[in-house]
Parts: sequence; structure tokens; C-alpha cells
Amino acid sequence: MTTRVITNIAELTTNDPTLGAGATGRLYDAAMVIDDGVVLWVGPDAHAPAADELIDAQHSAVIPGFVDSHTHLVFAGERSDEFEARMSGAAYDGGGIVDTVNATRAASSDELRRATLTRIRELRAGGVTTVEIKSGYALDVDGESRLVDIANEFSDEVTFLGAHAVPPEYARDRAGYVSLVRGPMLDACAPRSKWADVFCERGAFDVDESREILTAARSAGLGLRVHGNQLGTTGGVALAVEMDAASVDHCTFLSDDDIDQLCASQTVATLLPGADFSTRAHYSSARRLRDRGAVVALATDCNPGTSYVTSMSFVLAIAVRDMRMDFDDALWSATRGGAAALRRDDVGHLSVGARADVVILDAPRAAHLAYRPGSSLVRQVIGAQ
Ligand code: NIG
Ligand code: FE
Repeated sequence: MTTRVITNIAELTTNDPTLGAGATGRLYDAAMVIDDGVVLWVGPDAHAPAADELIDAQHSAVIPGFVDSHTHLVFAGERSDEFEARMSGAAYDGGGIVDTVNATRAASSDELRRATLTRIRELRAGGVTTVEIKSGYALDVDGESRLVDIANEFSDEVTFLGAHAVPPEYARDRAGYVSLVRGPMLDACAPRSKWADVFCERGAFDVDESREILTAARSAGLGLRVHGNQLGTTGGVALAVEMDAASVDHCTFLSDDDIDQLCASQTVATLLPGADFSTRAHYSSARRLRDRGAVVALATDCNPGTSYVTSMSFVLAIAVRDMRMDFDDALWSATRGGAAALRRDDVGHLSVGARADVVILDAPRAAHLAYRPGSSLVRQVIGAQ
């Protein structure tokens, strides 16, 4: 066992209210001791015990690694033309998914692996230490199975998203595609997936189709997630709550009833500021969710269509400025909130016994992440991957 002590921490966010002030469990002039992957001790710098190695934080802020609970990292190609068209006024309707499906089907596994690794490195350089990865850009049995395999090379949080779009070959047979997803495709992907997700939206899968797929996935032993209420109040939130999904993601449109249902459930509302930004949607109302007591997570939604974003700092900056989250709430949502959305208790906080996924910043306070958007403020990432 090689213990390491991180000293001279100006501001330590633990997300453990028993260790420090507020929900972020904040300590000042702090130190922490870790060993291979676990937090052993947290306390005042003046009382820091000796350890085998010393890391001097040089009076910087330290936070738990970000938990990015929603990405679509395994894809080929790019869709900047679609982004440009949207910025000139075109609307997003999910139609471009098929372009990425074509590029992804045509790519070799090595190409997909390399592209995924590049995105993982970008995420990690920005402080992400836990990442969820969805399939969803192959939409046939062997292809989805291949994407799940590649995702497993990078994460334990793998999500089967066969219900991302109806592929062109099933355009005249939606019911046939739903049967394929909840039958052979699920059978092929479930053994190496932890979660199943559906894009429950106008133009994708309606509530009944989504319920059918989620029900089969639950029977196959998978946890559930839902893309819901991205383009309207289309029933995705209610379905997620009904099915006890771990998370309903996007939530760009929310009725009061949706919020009531979320507050009375174990389902986390995951907001994706990058997607609202890149589709020029209005921003989800984080403040409304928080004021009513819903649990909120923030994630990148990294994908080539609606959010080619690998920076959690960018996500925080939008959440704070445009979704009107207090910085500390946003930081909690991007760490412990993301962990809640993955039903994980070992990450997203720095309590004794938690995983030692630690980010040392190049700034004296974590709030600089939103205050200085566009700057690279992550100095060192410890733990995971
Ligand atoms: O989370 N909304 C559905 N899926 C992705 C976008 C997929 C795409 O346009 O390629 C999302 O926004
Ligand atoms: Fe998504």
C-alpha cells in the first residue's frame, strides 16, 4: 500500500456534509490522504498525517472527479453542417442520428476504439473520472453488440440504446423494429450492459413503445434510463418515474406535474446544458427543479448531433449562468448528482472510504470553473481509468 497525502488545499469540496460546511462539505486549508484508490483521511492541513508520497496542491482548490452520467461516445463521423444549419435557424428533430448511424456502421472497430479513446482523454483532461457510455449508433443486432463491446473497454457504466431511432430499413415497420430491440438486440447486448435507455420523444419512440422496450430490459436485469422531455412535454418524465428509471435526461420541457412526480420518486433529473446550447433550445429550468426539491444531475451528453461537448467546466458555466444554478449546486450535480443518476454511492464525493477520484485545480476556488469559462483549470486528475 502506497499512501499519498495531498496537502496545502485552499478549498476542498468533499460533498460530505459531515466533513465540512453545506451540502458540498467544504473545508479550507485542508489535506487528504489516499491509498490505491480509496480516501483514508480528510482534515485540516495542520493535522495532516505523514504518508509515503506528498502532493502539494499549492493552495489550489480540490474537488471530487466529475461523474458524467450521460454520453454517446462510440460513434464515427461528425455533423458540424447540422450545427451550422441550426445556428442559422433550422430546428433539431433527431433526424441526423441516421447520418451518424451510417458512418458508424461503416467504421472499423479500431477506428471506433480510437475515436472513443480520444473523447475519453478529453473528458479526463477536464476532470471526469466516471463516465457512462451509450450504444445507439448502429441500430442492428451485431452493430449494437459491437458498440456495447467497445464501450465496455472504457467503462463499467454501459447503456444499451437500441431505441435511439428507427433505422431506415425499418421505416415502414416500426413495430418490427421495436420487437427487434426488445428481443434479439436486447438478448445480444444485455449481458454486457448495465443499463437500457430509450429516446422517448416525438419523431423517435412514443411512450407505449418506450414502455415496451424498458419493460423487456428490466426483465433482462438492466437498470433503466430515459431520454425524455427534450422537445416537448411528451410523457418521458412520467414514464421514467412510472418505471423507476434511475434518471430521466434532458428535461428541457417540464410541466409542474412532471416536477411533482420527480420529487416523489427516486428518479434523478439529468440536465444537459450542452444539448440545449447546441440545439439553441431554451435552457432547462434547474432552479424550478431545485426549489421544489428534485435531485438534479449535470452531464455532457457528448454526441455528434446535439452536444459535441467533452468539457464539464463548460457544462457548469452554462448551468450557472443560463440555468441559474448556484455554483455549489451545479458542482454537486456534476459530481454527486451524476453518481445518484448512476445509483452509485462510491463516487462523486470524498468521504473516508469513497473512491479517491480527485481533481486538483489551477485555481484557489472551484467557482473559477464557471467564472473563467474556456480556460483549462484542471491541473491533475487522480484515480479511475
Ligand atoms: O441525447 N436525443 C437523443 N440522442 C442524443 C442526440 C443524438 C443525435 O442527434 O445524434 C441526445 O441529444
Ligand atoms: Fe443523449
